[in-house]
Amino acid sequence: MSEETQTKPMTPFERLGGAPVIAAIVNDFYDRMESDPAFKELRDMHAPDLTPMRESLTGYLTAWSGGPRDWFEQRPGACVMSAHNKLPTPVTQATAKQWIAAMGQAIEAHLGHDQALANSMLDALTQMSIGMVRS
Ligand code: HEM
Repeated sequence: MSEETQTKPMTPFERLGGAPVIAAIVNDFYDRMESDPAFKELRDMHAPDLTPMRESLTGYLTAWSGGPRDWFEQRPGACVMSAHNKLPTPVTQATAKQWIAAMGQAIEAHLGHDQALANSMLDALTQMSIGMVRS
């Protein structure tokens, strides 16, 4: 194959649809957390204003999926797993389940047309969430 015809594989960031789709998933996730009583315990762990979280999770998932790395550049040495170990309210099995359920609904709403992609994103986030459970 000549150099001209070689194509770089798409990153997950590109397959997801880039920043607009990631922002839509994150906003949908926090909208559900704010409005659905099934996620009350999870909501109560968060600060009253979710605006900073909407920005931070969008930036994190952008970098995590292979897009621009601003989130990490603005937070040298940051580790999202250890950040969750230091939360005043530890992550429990119940709140991890709520996080995964709300995220699953948000992913389905925006990536339902591509079940393989939706499943792989949710599977990866589920593994991370299970790793954050402290009690
Ligand atoms: C296991 C279930 C999870 C629970 C219960 C949980 C809960 C929380 C809470 C309570 C905060 C602080 C919010 C605030 O100050 O208002 C937080 C921050 C954050 N979480 Fe989670 N989280 C979970 C999973 C995840 C996962 C899987 C990711 C990454 C994909 C993630 C990414 C973040 C980010 C980026 C922040 C903000 C860090 C910052 O900007 O300082 N969380 N989380």
